[in-house]
Amino acid sequence: MKVLVIGGAGYIGSHVVKELMAKGHSVTVFDNLSSGLKQNLFKENGSIKGDILNKKDLDKAFSKKFDAFVHLAAFKAAGESMIKPEKYSVNNITGTLNILNSAVEHDCKYMVFSSSAAVFGEPEYLPIDENHPKKPENYYGFTKLKIEEFMAWYDKLKGLKFAALRYFNAAGYDPEGVLYGLEQNPANLLPIIMEVACGMREKMKIFGNDYDTRDGTCIRDYVHVTDLASAHVKALEYITSKNESLTVNLGSETGTSVTEMVDAARKITGHAIPADYVERRPGDPATLVASAKLAEEKLNWKAQYSDINTLIDSTYKAYKKFLKK
Ligand code: UFG
Repeated sequence: MKVLVIGGAGYIGSHVVKELMAKGHSVTVFDNLSSGLKQNLFKENGSIKGDILNKKDLDKAFSKKFDAFVHLAAFKAAGESMIKPEKYSVNNITGTLNILNSAVEHDCKYMVFSSSAAVFGEPEYLPIDENHPKKPENYYGFTKLKIEEFMAWYDKLKGLKFAALRYFNAAGYDPEGVLYGLEQNPANLLPIIMEVACGMREKMKIFGNDYDTRDGTCIRDYVHVTDLASAHVKALEYITSKNESLTVNLGSETGTSVTEMVDAARKITGHAIPADYVERRPGDPATLVASAKLAEEKLNWKAQYSDINTLIDSTYKAYKKFLKK
């Protein structure tokens, strides 16, 4: 298939591109390189420097006629979205509406979308399945939920078929070591641990150790980016072959606490990784763990690289490789 990957120079996008290429699809990347990296582009692919806020850029891209597109272009810092909702409204909502309009105008009606576990908010039960109530706790999660609703309307009204993939905590790097472009100013746990392990920061903070969990720190479902990438390709094949939309959770179904992650990183990197326990970070639920049964049932997908060792080891290797250059 001829696939346009919007946000394909980013962290998750580049892994999706690699997987699409491996499965024989022809890929063109559309990215404004604001957070995406040139080094994440593959020279075998076409790439378009364009902005989702500029409808003309999108029209030009979609006029090249694609069978389907993947949309991963978004801001994703939940904490920041509570302080700067405008930024998230414009980029995530307006940008996506531009994409939806341009796509249907150019008759490109299969879409794979990066949604998030942030659509659920504080869990009412665990593990979280697709039917769990959706009450986002941050504005970022709200934008993802609204986009899911826009896609459902465009399905009804315009025949758009979409896959909404609700990622839990994306982590890890390409185990083959081809992709190692680091995110700029990361706020997520594993990159912060790695910055300490690689001497880029002296120590880290663990936000809260008084949660109702086995060791008092928050539990998350970390899912390897290569597993996420394979789910995108399977989802694309599903919606195009069945001509049917799909919304699924993507997680490893395993909970890892912050302390467990830091301890495992200490063992793997051999670095002491000094960490201070500090106040809770507002908006952090104690535990988030996915049920990924539906993804298994519909897509024959199961996380394969999402064990804690592979997550840490692949990330550590990417950091070392990147910093050596
Ligand atoms: N944490 C620390 N110290 C840090 C960074 C994080 O203790 O320096 C803790 C957090 O408090 C949290 C856990 O590590 O308990 C994971 O935090 P992240 O910031 O890595 O991830 P979040 O769970 O907050 O959110 C991530 C994505 C969201 C997505 C969500 C879905 O960033 O976009 O997973 O589960 F919506």
